[in-house]
Amino acid sequence: MSGRFKGKRIVVTGGAGFIGSHLVDALLAEGAAHVAVVDNFFLGKEENLSEARAAHGDQLSVHREDAGEFTAMKAVVDQVQPDLVFNLATKALLYSFFNPAGACQVNLSIATALAELLRMGAYGKLVHYSSSEVYGTARVVPMDEDHPLLAETSYAAGKAAADLLVSSYVKMFGLDISLIRPFNNYGPRQNDGQLAAIIPLTVRRIREGAKPMIQGDGLQTRDFIYVGDTVEATLKLALRDDIRGRVLNLGSGRETSIKAIIDGICREVAYDGDIDYLPTRPADVRRHWAGVDAATALIGDVAPTQLDVGLAKTIAWYRGRWS
Ligand SMILES: NC(=O)c1ccc[n+]([C@@H]2O[C@H](COP(=O)([O-])OP(=O)(O)OC[C@H]3O[C@@H](n4cnc5c(N)ncnc54)[C@H](O)[C@@H]3O)[C@@H](O)[C@H]2O)c1
Repeated sequence: MSGRFKGKRIVVTGGAGFIGSHLVDALLAEGAAHVAVVDNFFLGKEENLSEARAAHGDQLSVHREDAGEFTAMKAVVDQVQPDLVFNLATKALLYSFFNPAGACQVNLSIATALAELLRMGAYGKLVHYSSSEVYGTARVVPMDEDHPLLAETSYAAGKAAADLLVSSYVKMFGLDISLIRPFNNYGPRQNDGQLAAIIPLTVRRIREGAKPMIQGDGLQTRDFIYVGDTVEATLKLALRDDIRGRVLNLGSGRETSIKAIIDGICREVAYDGDIDYLPTRPADVRRHWAGVDAATALIGDVAPTQLDVGLAKTIAWYRGRWS
């Protein structure tokens, strides 16, 4: 621990989720005086916070609230008096196929509540998490932050709307808001239950004796970044005072096909059986490859963890939970 957040009071929305819980651990390890998690536990889990509780329980509070409810968020912020809010709360992309309107609105309602509270002076600075999904399928590669927003799902439309909303508050009121735009994250604690993304889903299926599953030809690509790298880059960016109003991609700067990622998992777990090919998922992004020059210029190497190393760590973590 180097105490980079010593004495800071911080709110993390979505802090019981996958990336959020790692961010909470890191902020507490970096000396934060208080970290308040706001999570409605839609996908968040208490167990994701168990390390934080064990190591820094006195500095942690958990508020089981809907971050999109202005009065609930105001009550938390009034109580905690944060210097800084990280907004990570969202409902997973796949949820948008069950509740397209709700999946969109949740992103906008949370961003609106946080932007309004910032405008009212209730806290000092917002670091807002966007998603590479707002770009849709790559029109040019690598995809830098000027890539057009061509959201394909209602989840991505809601994320894009939230980005535009918080950006408008920077322009209108000069507020201290910066946008972090991660590409596909993977690592320990990523949800492997309902609505699971491809890596935890594949690991779980193999463990349960089912075949790995690919929707489409498997040649669709993503840019995978290890969660620890995303968190470290987020900390470094949040500490800067020259990124107000900026959007910053976080990715590895490499594209990997879904087939290649599944092959990597199969190698790691010594699975040599068949793969089930299903029809292409509607609105599936075909190609993602992050341009990370902007973040690299500010903080150096954004994604030092090589994919095979990160995958091995991730699978070891899932195995540890099963034993
Ligand atoms: N995981 C990825 O690959 C990825 C890629 C790009 C961007 N992101 C972004 O990173 C952030 C975190 O994603 P994640 O993968 O950790 O997702 P996650 O689902 O694990 O975490 C999101 C958390 O938000 C909570 N939540 C949902 N609705 C809420 C509400 N109304 N109020 C309070 N809490 C609520 C959930 O319970 C969950 O704990 C999100 O903003 C997501 O869009 C993730």
